[in-house]
Amino acid sequence: MVDIHCHILPGVDDGSPSLEHSLQMARMAVREGIGTVIATPHHANGKYDNPAGRTQENVKRLTVELKRQDIPLQVCPGQEVRVYSDLISDMDNGSLFTLNGSRYLLIEFPSHRIPPSIKELIHELKVMQITPILAHPERNKEIAENPAQLFELIELGVLCQLTSHSITGLFGPAIRNLSLDMCRRNWIHFISSDAHNVTQRPFSLREAYAEIDTEIGSMYSSYYQKNAKAIIENQSISICSEPIPIKKKWYRLWS
Ligand SMILES: [Fe+2]
Repeated sequence: MVDIHCHILPGVDDGSPSLEHSLQMARMAVREGIGTVIATPHHANGKYDNPAGRTQENVKRLTVELKRQDIPLQVCPGQEVRVYSDLISDMDNGSLFTLNGSRYLLIEFPSHRIPPSIKELIHELKVMQITPILAHPERNKEIAENPAQLFELIELGVLCQLTSHSITGLFGPAIRNLSLDMCRRNWIHFISSDAHNVTQRPFSLREAYAEIDTEIGSMYSSYYQKNAKAIIENQSISICSEPIPIKKKWYRLWS
C-alpha cells in the first residue's frame, strides 16, 4: 500500500517527536503492509514551516536511518500546505514541494472554514498545471455543515483525500457517516492515514480499507489504492464515476 499523507519526519511538526519514534512508525507501517509513504509535514499553518529544501534533506536523513535499521519502507518528500495568501508566489520561488515532486499538491484548510480565495487559488494552480489534493475535507466544520460547497470545488478540479481514522470512527459517528457518504458520492479520490504517531494517531490504513470493503464495496478500496500509487509515479488519476451532487433535502438532514 501507498500512504500519501503522514507526519513521520522527526521533530518538525506535531507528528513524530523523535527519530526513535519515526522508526517505530516506520516498523508499524511495514507491519500493516505499507511499502511507501509520502512524508507531508505541516507547512505555513501559522505554527510550523517546513520549506521544500529542508523537508527533502529530512527525508534523506530518515531514509539513511531506515536502511541502517533494515526497515523496508520507502519515504518520499511532500508537504501539507495550509492555504495562505503567498501560496502561488511561494510555489513559483520553490519553497513549496508537491507530493514526491509530482503535479499534485497536498493542501489543507483551517479546520473551521473554507478560505474565501479558494476558487481563485484553484484556478491559478490549474494554470501552473498543478492539481490540488484537499486533505481531510470531512473534518472541516464549514464543509460538514454544508457539504454542497465541497462539490463545487470538486467540479473545479480539486481531488479529495479522506483520513483513515474518519472511516474507522476515531473522530465519532457523525464524521464517519459523512465520510462514507462522500465516498458513495464519488467525491473521494484517496484514503490516507495522516498518521502522527504510534499511539493516538497511527496509520490504520488497512483497517480503513477493510471498512470501505464492508460498507461500500471492494471496488472503492481498489480505486483509492490505485490512485495513491499513481501519485508516486506522477500519473493521471482515474476518475471512476461522476461525482453525485447533493439534493438540498440531503444536506438539510445533515444540518
Ligand atoms: Fe496532516
